[in-house]
Amino acid sequence: MASSRALVIFILLLPLFEVQATTILHFKSFSPFSTVLETLQNQLGYSFKNIGFLRRAMTHASFSEENNKAFSILGANLIQTSVSFRSLSKDIDVSSKYLNHQLSQISNVESSCAVDGMRLALHKVVRVSPKTNSSVPSVVCSAFRAIFGAIAIDDGKSDAAGDIFCAVHRGGELGNVLPL
Ligand SMILES: *[C@@H]1O[C@H](CO)[C@@H](O)[C@H](O)[C@H]1NC(C)=O
Repeated sequence: MASSRALVIFILLLPLFEVQATTILHFKSFSPFSTVLETLQNQLGYSFKNIGFLRRAMTHASFSEENNKAFSILGANLIQTSVSFRSLSKDIDVSSKYLNHQLSQISNVESSCAVDGMRLALHKVVRVSPKTNSSVPSVVCSAFRAIFGAIAIDDGKSDAAGDIFCAVHRGGELGNVLPL
């Protein structure tokens, strides 16, 4: 008697378990884009508290209204600040001419920014409209810069963004190829 009542309760509850099981499965099945964002975080050595910021950084203006344009401006400024800060910390007598030269090198789209971005394979990550070539330097570069804007916003301060930029950029100078 008791066991048959238990069976009835079990059968009545069965649909609930099924709903739960499919919900769990749904959350576990990552889309290719979120898998790629995971890999990118590993390459950067930074784990986002809000993955939405990295998602936005990897979204070109041609793809949606919510895009990386403003993050990219912040990122470019953080890169310049970080390079100036490091340069002066290393040599308090650094000439303004040398510092300006360093800044113009680091800000170059083709020779610096896009090279660093391609090494991170951002052309394979960034979301663009079907008509847009994701490998052109301006697209790769805006995505690359936007990463550092996104990190600063996620972290609530700019220190980590500057450190991670230097690590990524130096990796390229040393000829270290980052794993895909
Ligand atoms: C996309 O841009 C890259 C870099 O400028 C270029 O090498 C490539 O040929 C372009 N691809 C297409 C399909 O236009």
